[in-house]
Amino acid sequence: MEKKRAKNNRTLTVEPDEIERLQRLITPAEQLTVGLDFDNRIIQGDLLCVLDRIPDGVADLIIIDPPYNLSKNFHGLNFQARSHDAYLAYLRSWFHRVCAKLKPAGSLYLCGDWRCTAALQTVMSEELTVLNRITWQREKGKGAMHNWKNGMEDIWFGVKDARHYYFDVEAVKQKRRVIAPYRQNGKPKDWVETSEGNFRLTYPSNFWDDISVPFWSMPENTDHPTQKPEKLYAKLILASSREGDLVFDPFLGSGTAAVVAKKLNRRYLGVELNGEYCLWAAKRLCLAEQDASIQGYVDGVFWERNTLAVQRSHTALPDEE
Ligand SMILES: C[S@@+](CC[C@H](N)C(=O)[O-])C[C@H]1O[C@@H](n2cnc3c(N)ncnc32)[C@H](O)[C@@H]1O
Repeated sequence: MEKKRAKNNRTLTVEPDEIERLQRLITPAEQLTVGLDFDNRIIQGDLLCVLDRIPDGVADLIIIDPPYNLSKNFHGLNFQARSHDAYLAYLRSWFHRVCAKLKPAGSLYLCGDWRCTAALQTVMSEELTVLNRITWQREKGKGAMHNWKNGMEDIWFGVKDARHYYFDVEAVKQKRRVIAPYRQNGKPKDWVETSEGNFRLTYPSNFWDDISVPFWSMPENTDHPTQKPEKLYAKLILASSREGDLVFDPFLGSGTAAVVAKKLNRRYLGVELNGEYCLWAAKRLCLAEQDASIQGYVDGVFWERNTLAVQRSHTALPDEE
């Protein structure tokens, strides 16, 4: 049944007459053959069956956003919460094989929440040198009467070779509002005055509080239950890959990693089980050809949440979950 949507709801949908065209942009797992070019490809299929057909060492950057250890329905795929040991076994069933796809100087990010983060750290340490854990304050979260509402996620950062990996900190600088505008000889020290307020360009830390989860008035939004924001993946991709590099996402979902890779002139490869999610990803990739903007990332800098006038003007405030 078709969903009723509010007037300003910009959630992406795929119309019946678009399906055939979009499907041509998706490669079913059964069609993967030896010698196939894996550049800019969305593969529809089960990761566990697909992995052996993807050559090792193809990816410069891997971003993994797996099912967390929560009971969640991904439009038909019912992932069930399980014990720590059972979740660890689930991660081990694919993580090491995914790492094999990484180039020797490649980087990998693995997303999770507090519940599964110990298991994530374990598998990361088994295969990579862990360099950091980013904490993303995602704001939205389900209220709990007998516990603290969960508003945080973790993103583990690891590399194959800690002496040789790419990291461009200049590409991910953050524009922050200056709270105490200090002046020296009457002139702003390390900050600039603009019509929008006073700002300073800062180096990013591993605490990210400038990114909201996609919501209904944002054009990047889909009905995927756990879609990641484009701004979040833009930071990972800009810091840890060069233009032309290949970004691999083994749990592609609605296509965020592929879409951001394309917008930032990287190549992409994604695997997703659900056919409808693949269609959303394909449509987002088509739309990226006309509009390569990433909300919150303007003129090469990341703006704090709600500081950018242009951002405020075309979005409404998020509704609470
Ligand atoms: C947490 S979501 C990823 C969301 C994604 N980052 C986005 O921005 O839309 C995990 C995805 O993995 C997919 N998935 C789960 N098991 C899979 C498998 N064995 N093979 C391929 N995809 C799988 C689910 O359908 C779901 O879309």
